[in-house]
Amino acid sequence: MKRAGGLATAALTAAALTVLLTGCEGVQSALDPAGHQAGRIAGLWWLFLGVLTVIYLLVLAGLLIAAIRPRRRGRLHQGPAFAKEPPIERRLTRGLTAWAVGTGVIILTLTGLSYAVDRDVLGLTGRAELEIEVTAKQWWWQVKYNDPVPSRSFETANEIRLPVGVPVRVVLKSQDVIHSFWVPNLHGKTDLIPGRVNETTLTADREGRFRGQCAEFCGFQHANMALDVLAMPRDRFDAWRAAQLSSAPAPGDALQEQGRQVFLSSACVMCHTIHGTSAASRVGPDLTHVAGRLSLAAGTLPYNKGNLAGWIADPQRIKPGTRMPVTGLSPDQLQGVVAYLDSLK
Ligand code: CUA
Repeated sequence: MKRAGGLATAALTAAALTVLLTGCEGVQSALDPAGHQAGRIAGLWWLFLGVLTVIYLLVLAGLLIAAIRPRRRGRLHQGPAFAKEPPIERRLTRGLTAWAVGTGVIILTLTGLSYAVDRDVLGLTGRAELEIEVTAKQWWWQVKYNDPVPSRSFETANEIRLPVGVPVRVVLKSQDVIHSFWVPNLHGKTDLIPGRVNETTLTADREGRFRGQCAEFCGFQHANMALDVLAMPRDRFDAWRAAQLSSAPAPGDALQEQGRQVFLSSACVMCHTIHGTSAASRVGPDLTHVAGRLSLAAGTLPYNKGNLAGWIADPQRIKPGTRMPVTGLSPDQLQGVVAYLDSLK
């Protein structure tokens, strides 16, 4: 009976541990690092967790012993005040002194290690080979790939693609309120503050798709302010980059052409840019290659034609408060616009 109980407890513990540890994996987890910076931060986190867990257990054990031990030899305060210090008090004094010194040493060591990790993580800033400028807006991310040659710069939205193994400088700005840029698998958080330029460096050590999230409450749709981060081999990144530099492709059929006309003659052009057309407003995301993105409305919906149609038809239902207004297109017009935008790979 006792044996069965022991086995059941062991099985439960193993299950709980498995759940806890698998909870660390994922596309948005600081404990599943995919980059040097996130790796150092996660290492520090596990070290803190280990050391502090041991201390916590020691304190609990001490409390437990004090609570259940019978009051033996309770003569601490007996006898005249000038008597020699009793051995039990001497032992206590020594024990407590050791504990206090140990605590100090542990705190200083952890502080030093934390400082060293900080220096190491920041030390990568100067070695960036690529610069991306991210501007936070309520509630989406404008992403510019800057190049010393202006014609080789381009803009996208709610998505960052990085070559694996290359440190990338990310310049962070905000247009309205304070946001916070956080891609947990790659690095810690950095705030985006109006009127100020911040910087962080990302380095992806392996290929993968990760999820970034605004980590500072910034209004109604703060939770739906996410971004996709794709780390890819250098050659694929270069090919993607070259494709992004091109203008939007011409409509491939009559429906797409009709959609393009509707887009250019409706309220859409008040906010969006499509390179290669007369649409050149910079209020909302650049749509030149919108159909190549992984999600819509800053990570709110996965990208597909149906979601695109739903989003244009009634953005306020999908993301209440979004700056994207209801455009009031007729079903025919909507069909054309969706066909056109979906051709913009
Ligand atoms: Cu932007 Cu929260």
